[in-house]
Amino acid sequence: MNMIEINNLRRVYKATIGTLRRKTKEVVAVDDISFNVSAGELFGLLGPNGAGKTTVVKMLTTLLIPTSGTARIMGADVEKEAEKIRPKIGFIFGGERGLYWRLSAQDNLRYFASLYHVDPNVSKKRIEYLLELVGLEDRSKEKVEGYSRGMKQRLHIARALIHDPEVLFLDEPTIGLDPVGARKLREVIRNLQSEQKTILLTTHYMFEADALCQRIAVIDHGNIVALDTPEALKKLVKDLSVIEVEVFGVPEELFGRLREQPFVDNVAVENREQTQVLMVQTPRGSEAVPDLIALLDGVRIGKVTSREPTLEDAYVRLVGGET
Ligand SMILES: Nc1ncnc2c1ncn2[C@@H]1O[C@H](COP(=O)(O)OP(=O)(O)O)[C@@H](O)[C@H]1O
Ligand SMILES: [Mg+2]
Repeated sequence: MNMIEINNLRRVYKATIGTLRRKTKEVVAVDDISFNVSAGELFGLLGPNGAGKTTVVKMLTTLLIPTSGTARIMGADVEKEAEKIRPKIGFIFGGERGLYWRLSAQDNLRYFASLYHVDPNVSKKRIEYLLELVGLEDRSKEKVEGYSRGMKQRLHIARALIHDPEVLFLDEPTIGLDPVGARKLREVIRNLQSEQKTILLTTHYMFEADALCQRIAVIDHGNIVALDTPEALKKLVKDLSVIEVEVFGVPEELFGRLREQPFVDNVAVENREQTQVLMVQTPRGSEAVPDLIALLDGVRIGKVTSREPTLEDAYVRLVGGET
């Protein structure tokens, strides 16, 4: 069965521009999106900032009405049957607040259990179970204000599961977490699968989608540009290699010039501490290095390496630009 079913979903915002005349401008946040998620699937919605991920999740969680198109959760329409959907879903939005910092994790969960009318005979066991599931059992009696961001985010996940929803929406759950905290959170998300939950996760990290999701929809400018398994998405770049060139200050117009080259398939740039790294996708492999260096005439360059493409490169190919 499809737990999530979306057909031609669209959402246009009316943004106010200018203070005096109060002109409005239409922003197409979600243009035309269709996909289905089956029971027990961990489905990824991957795309850069502003791609429309949060807007999709807000419509699916009944927080925002679609401009057109339809979305159903377990068969119920998000617009016409919102009250049927709400008890069956849980959600967290990245970097959200909404926990009581002066209370312990346990007391927070007790509070949300009563808010969701969880049977008190059930809630005690459920809270214990959830605290263990998200790895907070040893710290559950401490005030949340002393928690790391990762711990708070894991508590958010427990909070979203308190009423035992069937479908869970995680909007950029690892945003703002340090690498260790993010890894621990991904472990928790992976463990949720044993719960048979259907999960829709959004992220702008390809590796995160790769590590967690069974299928990934890549979205850009409000449209799906690819939808497949991580393995199939990787095949998009199997004939390419990636040459990485460490550079120190690159003039903007150089990117355009590089992209124009017949042997260059795509160029991305990653900002590291002291340097930038140009990642050039090319079917010619390391043979392309001399031509590339010639094009970089006048630019100070450091290390040059050639490597196999990753899923991240497939993502770059699909959405282009900076990572
Ligand atoms: N309330 C709003 N009013 C106007 N424009 C908005 C609003 N919310 C989001 N947008 C715009 O819609 C687009 C998609 O935003 P969003 O769904 O938040 O993307 P993502 O979550 O992928 O970063 C962006 O261009 C964003 O600026
Ligand atoms: Mg977002």
